Amino acid sequence: MRMRKKKNGPVRLEKCKAWLAEKPQSPIDSAVRDFGREAPLWLEVGAGKGGFACQMSRANPDICFYALERSFDCVVLAAEQAEAQKDTHPGNVRFMVESADELPSLFAPGCIDRIFLNFSDPWSKKGYYKRRLTYRRYLAMYFTLLKEGGTLCFKTDNDGLFAFTLQELAAMGVVPSVVTDDLHASVYKEGNVETEYETHFVSLGMKIHMLTVERPTTWCVPPDKKRANEEQESNL
Ligand SMILES: C[S@@+](CC[C@H](N)C(=O)[O-])C[C@H]1O[C@@H](n2cnc3c(N)ncnc32)[C@H](O)[C@@H]1O
Repeated sequence: MRMRKKKNGPVRLEKCKAWLAEKPQSPIDSAVRDFGREAPLWLEVGAGKGGFACQMSRANPDICFYALERSFDCVVLAAEQAEAQKDTHPGNVRFMVESADELPSLFAPGCIDRIFLNFSDPWSKKGYYKRRLTYRRYLAMYFTLLKEGGTLCFKTDNDGLFAFTLQELAAMGVVPSVVTDDLHASVYKEGNVETEYETHFVSLGMKIHMLTVERPTTWCVPPDKKRANEEQESNL
Protein backbone atom coordinates (compact mmCIF):
# COMPACT_ATOMS: atom_id res chain seq x y z
CA MET A 1 0.00 0.00 0.00
CA ARG A 2 1.42 3.39 -0.99
CA MET A 3 1.62 5.87 1.87
CA ARG A 4 0.19 9.37 1.44
CA LYS A 5 2.92 12.00 1.16
CA LYS A 6 3.71 13.53 4.54
CA LYS A 7 3.28 17.26 4.89
CA ASN A 8 6.58 18.96 5.80
CA GLY A 9 8.37 15.60 5.67
CA PRO A 10 11.91 17.02 5.38
CA VAL A 11 11.32 19.50 8.23
CA ARG A 12 9.84 16.79 10.42
CA LEU A 13 12.73 14.44 9.67
CA GLU A 14 15.30 17.11 10.48
CA LYS A 15 13.87 17.27 14.02
CA CYS A 16 14.54 13.54 14.47
CA LYS A 17 17.87 13.34 12.70
CA ALA A 18 19.58 11.79 15.72
CA TRP A 19 17.77 8.56 14.73
CA LEU A 20 19.01 8.53 11.13
CA ALA A 21 22.10 6.95 9.63
CA GLU A 22 23.60 8.67 6.61
CA LYS A 23 24.55 6.73 3.52
CA PRO A 24 28.13 5.57 4.11
CA GLN A 25 30.97 6.39 1.71
CA SER A 26 32.25 2.88 2.17
CA PRO A 27 30.31 -0.09 3.51
CA ILE A 28 29.65 -0.06 7.27
CA ASP A 29 31.54 -2.89 8.97
CA SER A 30 30.79 -2.26 12.64
CA ALA A 31 28.52 -0.34 15.00
CA VAL A 32 31.25 2.19 15.77
CA ARG A 33 30.44 4.69 13.02
CA ASP A 34 26.85 5.35 14.10
CA PHE A 35 26.72 4.13 17.70
CA GLY A 36 30.25 4.81 18.95
CA ARG A 37 30.77 1.29 20.29
CA GLU A 38 31.33 -2.28 19.16
CA ALA A 39 28.14 -4.36 19.32
CA PRO A 40 26.30 -7.07 17.41
CA LEU A 41 24.52 -5.56 14.41
CA TRP A 42 20.89 -6.37 13.59
CA LEU A 43 19.23 -5.17 10.39
CA GLU A 44 15.60 -4.92 9.29
CA VAL A 45 14.83 -4.56 5.58
CA GLY A 46 11.52 -2.85 4.78
CA ALA A 47 10.94 -1.42 8.26
CA GLY A 48 7.72 0.45 7.48
CA LYS A 49 6.67 2.79 10.30
CA GLY A 50 9.45 1.48 12.55
CA GLY A 51 7.49 -0.09 15.41
CA PHE A 52 9.41 -3.38 15.25
CA ALA A 53 12.80 -1.65 15.05
CA CYS A 54 12.04 0.60 18.04
CA GLN A 55 10.69 -2.24 20.16
CA MET A 56 13.29 -4.87 19.23
CA SER A 57 16.19 -2.48 19.88
CA ARG A 58 14.64 -1.38 23.17
CA ALA A 59 14.29 -5.02 24.27
CA ASN A 60 17.92 -5.73 23.31
CA PRO A 61 19.99 -2.78 24.50
CA ASP A 62 23.31 -4.58 23.92
CA ILE A 63 22.85 -4.76 20.16
CA CYS A 64 22.74 -1.99 17.56
CA PHE A 65 19.89 -1.98 15.06
CA TYR A 66 19.76 -0.56 11.52
CA ALA A 67 16.31 -0.28 9.94
CA LEU A 68 16.26 0.13 6.16
CA GLU A 69 13.17 1.50 4.45
CA ARG A 70 12.94 2.88 0.95
CA SER A 71 9.90 5.09 1.58
CA PHE A 72 10.92 8.52 2.83
CA ASP A 73 7.47 9.07 4.33
CA CYS A 74 7.65 5.84 6.33
CA VAL A 75 11.04 6.86 7.70
CA VAL A 76 9.56 10.20 8.83
CA LEU A 77 7.01 8.26 10.91
CA ALA A 78 9.60 5.75 12.14
CA ALA A 79 12.06 8.44 13.27
CA GLU A 80 9.23 10.36 14.96
CA GLN A 81 8.23 7.19 16.79
CA ALA A 82 11.81 6.79 18.06
CA GLU A 83 12.01 10.48 19.00
CA ALA A 84 8.79 10.15 21.02
CA GLN A 85 10.55 7.46 23.10
CA LYS A 86 13.83 9.36 23.50
CA ASP A 87 13.64 9.58 27.30
CA THR A 88 13.33 5.84 27.77
CA HIS A 89 14.87 4.27 24.64
CA PRO A 90 18.49 3.06 24.83
CA GLY A 91 19.21 4.91 21.55
CA ASN A 92 20.51 1.84 19.70
CA VAL A 93 18.44 2.16 16.50
CA ARG A 94 19.07 4.13 13.29
CA PHE A 95 16.83 4.43 10.24
CA MET A 96 18.08 4.70 6.66
CA VAL A 97 16.09 5.80 3.62
CA GLU A 98 17.51 3.19 1.26
CA SER A 99 16.44 0.32 -0.94
CA ALA A 100 17.43 -3.29 -0.37
CA ASP A 101 19.17 -3.10 -3.75
CA GLU A 102 21.80 -0.87 -2.12
CA LEU A 103 22.70 -3.37 0.62
CA PRO A 104 26.10 -4.36 -0.83
CA SER A 105 27.20 -0.71 -0.81
CA LEU A 106 25.80 -0.08 2.69
CA PHE A 107 27.20 -3.00 4.69
CA ALA A 108 30.40 -5.04 4.47
CA PRO A 109 30.20 -8.81 3.98
CA GLY A 110 29.96 -10.78 7.23
CA CYS A 111 29.22 -7.85 9.56
CA ILE A 112 25.54 -8.48 10.44
CA ASP A 113 24.33 -10.86 13.15
CA ARG A 114 20.60 -10.90 12.38
CA ILE A 115 18.45 -9.80 9.47
CA PHE A 116 14.67 -9.37 9.74
CA LEU A 117 12.19 -9.29 6.86
CA ASN A 118 8.72 -8.52 8.14
CA PHE A 119 5.62 -8.64 5.95
CA SER A 120 7.55 -7.85 2.80
CA ASP A 121 5.52 -6.71 -0.20
CA PRO A 122 4.22 -9.81 -2.07
CA TRP A 123 4.60 -8.32 -5.59
CA SER A 124 1.67 -10.42 -6.77
CA LYS A 125 1.42 -9.13 -10.32
CA LYS A 126 2.48 -11.58 -12.96
CA GLY A 127 6.18 -11.37 -13.80
CA TYR A 128 7.14 -9.25 -10.77
CA TYR A 129 8.41 -12.05 -8.54
CA LYS A 130 12.03 -10.95 -8.94
CA ARG A 131 11.19 -7.88 -6.84
CA ARG A 132 10.19 -9.94 -3.84
CA LEU A 133 12.64 -9.44 -1.00
CA THR A 134 12.92 -13.22 -0.68
CA TYR A 135 13.86 -13.77 -4.32
CA ARG A 136 17.14 -15.69 -4.59
CA ARG A 137 19.17 -12.60 -5.56
CA TYR A 138 18.15 -10.88 -2.32
CA LEU A 139 18.59 -14.01 -0.21
CA ALA A 140 22.15 -14.30 -1.54
CA MET A 141 22.77 -10.66 -0.52
CA TYR A 142 21.55 -11.36 3.02
CA PHE A 143 23.68 -14.50 3.35
CA THR A 144 26.72 -12.51 2.20
CA LEU A 145 26.11 -9.82 4.82
CA LEU A 146 25.52 -12.26 7.68
CA LYS A 147 28.29 -13.38 9.99
CA GLU A 148 28.97 -17.06 10.41
CA GLY A 149 26.21 -18.24 12.78
CA GLY A 150 24.07 -15.23 11.86
CA THR A 151 20.36 -15.64 11.13
CA LEU A 152 17.70 -14.43 8.75
CA CYS A 153 14.15 -14.27 10.10
CA PHE A 154 11.13 -13.82 7.82
CA LYS A 155 7.48 -13.32 8.82
CA THR A 156 4.47 -12.95 6.56
CA ASP A 157 0.71 -13.42 6.50
CA ASN A 158 0.89 -14.29 2.80
CA ASP A 159 0.63 -18.05 2.05
CA GLY A 160 1.89 -17.67 -1.52
CA LEU A 161 4.88 -15.52 -0.58
CA PHE A 162 5.83 -17.96 2.19
CA ALA A 163 5.64 -20.94 -0.20
CA PHE A 164 7.67 -18.97 -2.77
CA THR A 165 10.34 -18.23 -0.14
CA LEU A 166 10.62 -21.89 0.84
CA GLN A 167 11.00 -22.76 -2.86
CA GLU A 168 13.71 -20.14 -3.33
CA LEU A 169 15.66 -21.46 -0.34
CA ALA A 170 15.34 -25.02 -1.62
CA ALA A 171 16.59 -23.94 -5.08
CA MET A 172 19.63 -22.43 -3.34
CA GLY A 173 20.26 -25.65 -1.40
CA VAL A 174 19.42 -24.00 1.93
CA VAL A 175 17.31 -25.58 4.69
CA PRO A 176 15.59 -23.33 7.26
CA SER A 177 16.08 -24.19 10.92
CA VAL A 178 12.58 -23.09 11.97
CA VAL A 179 9.36 -23.09 9.95
CA THR A 180 5.93 -22.42 11.39
CA ASP A 181 2.63 -21.67 9.70
CA ASP A 182 1.07 -20.30 12.86
CA LEU A 183 3.59 -18.27 14.79
CA HIS A 184 1.09 -17.04 17.37
CA ALA A 185 0.06 -20.60 18.29
CA SER A 186 3.66 -21.84 18.42
CA VAL A 187 6.43 -21.86 21.00
CA TYR A 188 8.07 -19.03 19.01
CA LYS A 189 5.36 -16.58 20.11
CA GLU A 190 7.30 -15.99 23.31
CA GLY A 191 9.70 -13.13 22.65
CA ASN A 192 8.02 -12.32 19.33
CA VAL A 193 7.86 -8.59 18.64
CA GLU A 194 4.84 -7.66 16.54
CA THR A 195 5.10 -5.28 13.62
CA GLU A 196 2.35 -2.83 12.66
CA TYR A 197 1.18 -5.14 9.84
CA GLU A 198 1.33 -8.17 12.08
CA THR A 199 -0.88 -6.56 14.74
CA HIS A 200 -3.39 -5.71 12.03
CA PHE A 201 -3.43 -9.18 10.47
CA VAL A 202 -3.63 -10.92 13.84
CA SER A 203 -6.60 -8.71 14.77
CA LEU A 204 -8.31 -10.04 11.64
CA GLY A 205 -7.72 -13.61 12.83
CA MET A 206 -5.08 -14.37 10.19
CA LYS A 207 -2.25 -16.83 10.78
CA ILE A 208 1.34 -15.66 10.58
CA HIS A 209 4.06 -17.74 8.91
CA MET A 210 7.62 -17.48 10.14
CA LEU A 211 10.90 -19.03 9.13
CA THR A 212 14.44 -18.71 10.40
CA VAL A 213 17.54 -19.59 8.41
CA GLU A 214 21.05 -19.80 9.76
CA ARG A 215 23.68 -18.45 7.40
CA PRO A 216 24.64 -21.44 5.25
CA THR A 217 28.32 -22.15 4.68
CA THR A 218 27.56 -22.50 0.96
CA TRP A 219 24.65 -21.67 -1.27
CA CYS A 220 24.00 -21.46 -4.99
CA VAL A 221 22.07 -18.89 -6.99
CA PRO A 222 20.68 -20.92 -9.88
CA PRO A 223 19.86 -18.95 -13.03
CA ASP A 224 16.21 -18.12 -13.20
CA LYS A 225 14.05 -20.15 -15.54
CA LYS A 226 10.82 -18.71 -16.83
CA ARG A 227 8.43 -20.06 -14.26
CA ALA A 228 5.84 -22.52 -15.41
CA ASN A 229 3.69 -21.39 -12.50
CA GLU A 230 4.05 -17.65 -13.08
CA GLU A 231 0.34 -17.53 -13.72
CA GLN A 232 -0.33 -18.97 -10.26
CA GLU A 233 2.17 -16.59 -8.71
CA SER A 234 0.10 -13.68 -9.84
CA ASN A 235 -2.53 -14.88 -7.36
CA LEU A 236 -0.45 -14.43 -4.19
C1 LIG B 1 4.02 -4.34 3.71
S1 LIG B 1 5.08 -3.15 4.40
C2 LIG B 1 5.52 -3.88 5.95
C3 LIG B 1 6.08 -2.86 6.90
C4 LIG B 1 6.58 -3.41 8.26
N1 LIG B 1 7.72 -4.30 8.05
C5 LIG B 1 5.50 -4.11 9.03
O1 LIG B 1 5.54 -5.35 9.09
O2 LIG B 1 4.62 -3.44 9.58
C6 LIG B 1 6.55 -3.41 3.43
C7 LIG B 1 7.54 -2.27 3.56
O3 LIG B 1 8.72 -2.62 2.86
C8 LIG B 1 9.20 -1.49 2.16
N2 LIG B 1 9.98 -1.97 1.01
C9 LIG B 1 9.51 -2.64 -0.07
N3 LIG B 1 10.51 -2.93 -0.92
C10 LIG B 1 11.64 -2.43 -0.36
C11 LIG B 1 13.00 -2.39 -0.76
N4 LIG B 1 13.39 -2.94 -1.93
N5 LIG B 1 13.90 -1.81 0.05
C12 LIG B 1 13.52 -1.24 1.23
N6 LIG B 1 12.23 -1.23 1.66
C13 LIG B 1 11.31 -1.83 0.89
C14 LIG B 1 7.94 -0.74 1.74
O4 LIG B 1 8.20 0.63 1.46
C15 LIG B 1 7.05 -0.95 2.97
O5 LIG B 1 7.21 0.09 3.90
